[in-house]
Amino acid sequence: MVQFPKDFYWGAATSSYQVEGNNVNADWWPWEKKVGRENSGAACRHYELYQQDFDLIKSLNHNAHRLSIEWSRIEPKEGEFSQEALQHYIDVIAALRSRNIEPMVTLHHFTNPIWLSAKGGWADQGCIKYFLRYCDFVVRALGPQVHFWFTINEPTIYLSHAFLWGMWPPQARSFLKTKAVHDHLIEGHIEAYRLIHKIYKELNIAAPAVSIAQHMQAIVSCAPSLKNRLAVALREQWYNLEILDQLKKRKALDFIGVNYYSRHLVDVHSWWIGNLLMETCQVNNHPLKKNFLGWDIYPEGLHHVLLNLKKYNVPVIIAENGICTIDDHERWEYIRDHLTQVHRAIEQGVNVKGYLYWSLMDNFEWAYGFAPRFGLIDVNYNTHQRTVRDSAKKYAQVCKTGILET
Ligand code: BGC
Repeated sequence: MVQFPKDFYWGAATSSYQVEGNNVNADWWPWEKKVGRENSGAACRHYELYQQDFDLIKSLNHNAHRLSIEWSRIEPKEGEFSQEALQHYIDVIAALRSRNIEPMVTLHHFTNPIWLSAKGGWADQGCIKYFLRYCDFVVRALGPQVHFWFTINEPTIYLSHAFLWGMWPPQARSFLKTKAVHDHLIEGHIEAYRLIHKIYKELNIAAPAVSIAQHMQAIVSCAPSLKNRLAVALREQWYNLEILDQLKKRKALDFIGVNYYSRHLVDVHSWWIGNLLMETCQVNNHPLKKNFLGWDIYPEGLHHVLLNLKKYNVPVIIAENGICTIDDHERWEYIRDHLTQVHRAIEQGVNVKGYLYWSLMDNFEWAYGFAPRFGLIDVNYNTHQRTVRDSAKKYAQVCKTGILET
């Protein structure tokens, strides 16, 4: 049995496009149709059903909730800001506050307005200026009710999936664009960080806590070799820490949001930089249980990742951690085993302030559509009926007591 700190944040996370439904002005919407992928459609209809979803959150003893604002609703056409969409999010935040649930708000979670992607999206020079204008509009309105902000969700995943590997819109597959997007995301965060702090000062409210949600993997070598050791060190730096280092250096990191799911296996057979950075283990000689998408389940990795964050000397919030599975017992084991590792890290001096499970409910898992089930709550996509899973009830006990039976 382990006990978590008294003031710990317990909850779950979602993102607008994945749960709201009918985000017709976002770049993913036409893209899904163009490439013939499963359409996000009505998703979970969370845009309409958020009050009932927040009642469920309350009944599950969550005291925090991470959600994102859909930029394409706020600014459906360039320079035209929707008061109605803004009011919706003001109401959403008020609905959380009235239930005593701490809102944690993401400003960019993978999707962009169509008009922005037509200009080249985050590869376009102007993107930072547009992002800041949108942030300004949202933060001034929500500011008084929100303390925790995530400017950008998983910069490394966004830039690699959308601009390097071309799996997501705009399917760029270009090193040059990837580099530009990387730089724009970092600058975009830093300037948004400054802007948010400035707005809070102007509004005369206590300073906010601003970060990104950083995707972090445990980088594990398949076999002992010098090349593998070098590759692990390089990838640890490039995949996990490089952006955090820059944000820390530029004084734009009040805390660190960590998204952790799995490990990445390294096995390198050439000294070429491409191999050192990308070659993975072909024979899985360390077989582990996997989630529905085939990702290794590796709770110790979270402990390792957290210890690496000690050097930044800022609080940490686990902004996402979760499993897609059709076996709900596996979900509970996943949560229990990862929380055990979080607790170990806390005992070893990592200042972890909260844990948000991904996701509150089953939702639209990007290029994989609706098949992967990540939710604490099951969603029937025909009726949009919600059913609380057993794992959610077990997690609710931990949220209530702060005690985990390991
Ligand atoms: C993303 C989520 C996604 C989850 C599971 C994270 O990379 O932030 O949007 O659903 O992983 O793949």
